[in-house]
Amino acid sequence: MSAAIGSAEAATRARLGRQGRCTETEQADFAAAKTLLPGGALGGNQFAEDAKFVFARAAGARFWDVSGNEYVDYCLGSGSMVLGHAHESARRAIIEQVAKGTHYFAYLNEPALELAKIVARHVPCVEKMRFTVSGSEATFHAIRLARGFTGREKIVKFEGAYHGNHDYAQISTAPKRESNFPVGIPDTAGIPQGARDTVLIARYNDLDCVRQLARDNAGELAAIIVEPIQRIISPKPGFLEGLRKIADEFGCVLIFDEIVTGWRLALGGAQEYFGVTPDLASFGKILGGGLPVAGIGGRADIMDLCDPTNKGQPGFVYQNGTLNGNPLGMAAAVATLTELERPGTYAQLFDKAEALRQGLRRIIARHGIDAVIVGQGPLWHLLFGASGEPTDYRDIQRADGKKLLAFDMELMRQGFFVLPGNRRFISLAHTDRDLEDSFAAFDAACRKLKP
Ligand SMILES: Cc1ncc(COP(=O)(O)O)c(C=O)c1O
Repeated sequence: MSAAIGSAEAATRARLGRQGRCTETEQADFAAAKTLLPGGALGGNQFAEDAKFVFARAAGARFWDVSGNEYVDYCLGSGSMVLGHAHESARRAIIEQVAKGTHYFAYLNEPALELAKIVARHVPCVEKMRFTVSGSEATFHAIRLARGFTGREKIVKFEGAYHGNHDYAQISTAPKRESNFPVGIPDTAGIPQGARDTVLIARYNDLDCVRQLARDNAGELAAIIVEPIQRIISPKPGFLEGLRKIADEFGCVLIFDEIVTGWRLALGGAQEYFGVTPDLASFGKILGGGLPVAGIGGRADIMDLCDPTNKGQPGFVYQNGTLNGNPLGMAAAVATLTELERPGTYAQLFDKAEALRQGLRRIIARHGIDAVIVGQGPLWHLLFGASGEPTDYRDIQRADGKKLLAFDMELMRQGFFVLPGNRRFISLAHTDRDLEDSFAAFDAACRKLKP
């Protein structure tokens, strides 16, 4: 990748970003959203008034808002669109499936079977699998399976790890204050004490902390659930191997939440990349290629607990959903993973990410800004007031989050779209031109940051 950087390009780059342009139609959309949707939003993220927009369409690494403003996308459907938006293969597969029917209920269909074959071919832990609609369902069912398998209730989760929106996941995901391990802090109102009592919080990259928890709760621990790369924090050498050993020693299930890392680091996910095989894994995002598809896969003896022929028997674990294995999503997923199977895909993805990181680092250095670009593979992040790669959640908390949020809003105004304050992605669709325009936008945002 050769991408030129700097202010010289700013004059010729596409006119990216909102930069004050907002049509009456889009303003009417904002007004309707405010009256109909809590906070005017569909989910948990909200933007500054002069940076927010309404999506109109997306293609490749770019999207356009209702006012016609253009953006380069590093959020990518929260990391789902690794092929870029509206990729031809996925589009074709979806259209072909539409003609055959879009929904059959959770009954066997060939696209679902094909997807299960592809996943099992590549992902080391997967002997059997189940499909869900969201990643949150996938981690929820992985935890339930682990509890059913072990007959135990407690789980270890890491501070700062995100496993979705359910009660067992929304504990110490983004705590604003430090608690003493293993006590967790709920991230939302509405979590029953009973759920809180079963979730033990440990420090990521700290095997002593996990081992101590396993000892203190011997015979009660059902699972250790971990994001193999926690948000943007890489595992120290030996950390994932150490978790494997502790899980084996204490008879609990090791769950890798591969909803972000799956098909992003390698076809076999983080478990292939780092060479450590969990008992169960949860998948989402890339798996569905932008459709609502997620899943749980792993050891046959654990997965078989949800075999419906055992319904009503002791030990049976309920896992079902109207949209499980939905053929439209399955077809998009098969097309997406088939594209990723092409030789050289991951080298290309990693090279693009490295070119982006290097270019952004050069701009930061030129402006003398107190920030670092961190991350590995196609995952990257910007941290203000940090000196290098973080090793746990508290390192991230020590960085200047307020400055990052303000900078991210400016990036959005300039047409460089990220999920504000969060780790970011890159896709196979990002071209040299996309990177050049992004560098110019980043450069402009850096100039605004200066006093
Ligand atoms: C690691 C991880 N696990 C679980 C989830 C939940 O997935 P979903 O938003 O599809 O419910 C996410 C979503 O961002 C995630 O990043």
